[in-house]
Amino acid sequence: MHIIIRPTADEVAIAAADILIDHVRRGATLGLATGSTPVATYKQLIRRHRAGEISFADSRAFLLDEYIGLPPEHEQSYHHTIRHEFTDHIDIDEAGVASPDGMAADPYAAAAAYEQAIIDAGGIDVQLLGVGTNGHIGFNEPGTALTMPTHVDTLHPQTISDNARFFDSAADVPIHVLTQGLGTIQRAGHLVLLATGEHKAEAVASLAEGPLTAMCPASVLQLHANATVIIDEDAAGGLRNLEYYRFVEANLLKR
Ligand code: F6R
Repeated sequence: MHIIIRPTADEVAIAAADILIDHVRRGATLGLATGSTPVATYKQLIRRHRAGEISFADSRAFLLDEYIGLPPEHEQSYHHTIRHEFTDHIDIDEAGVASPDGMAADPYAAAAAYEQAIIDAGGIDVQLLGVGTNGHIGFNEPGTALTMPTHVDTLHPQTISDNARFFDSAADVPIHVLTQGLGTIQRAGHLVLLATGEHKAEAVASLAEGPLTAMCPASVLQLHANATVIIDEDAAGGLRNLEYYRFVEANLLKR
């Protein structure tokens, strides 16, 4: 796991955008996360697209997850959110931005179809991830099998309370979701996890330095041969091996 520590959240976004742009230049299939953390990275990518630096015309994208029961036009559906925050502002083909069908009559069949669509597209080249305060990635809550494909899941009460800020009240947060599984995520070529703020310090310490366990779904990054974790100083606060990560960063052997 390559751990990159930047002084501020803005610098985390700049570092993440640099990595994503490298992939986009090669026509990558992107895995996109929603939530607050990647918004600053999306702003960087939009800015650099507008500056004529990068085109997304050869890329396509798969979202990580979706709430069950929110129609695509609902402001808080991830289908809507990713368009509003990112893909409507770049030149990616709109038809190439896929998300699990949260309104499917049979969500289990929708999960299987989404998994197959990712496989049919040749897989995800670079998967952007945030991390929940309880260590979830995508909506894989603590206890989810480390090998799961895309599946129906039930949100943890902690996640419902964390995400209530996007809704009128916690009672409005859907309880059920469709999410790429930890198995799906592990098949992406490059995992790029972002975390900023002191409230993520415990989750970051667990995922990077804790045991590999379904109780911290993000610890599955320890199994991935190409995982990059980009965090700010606040989110790095719980790491024990911090000086070594800084030493590695200062002495990177460039390819
Ligand atoms: C969003 C997602 C979630 C978030 C996580 C952190 O698509 O899959 O795992 O990345 O809940 O959310 P924020 O960034 O809002 O703290």
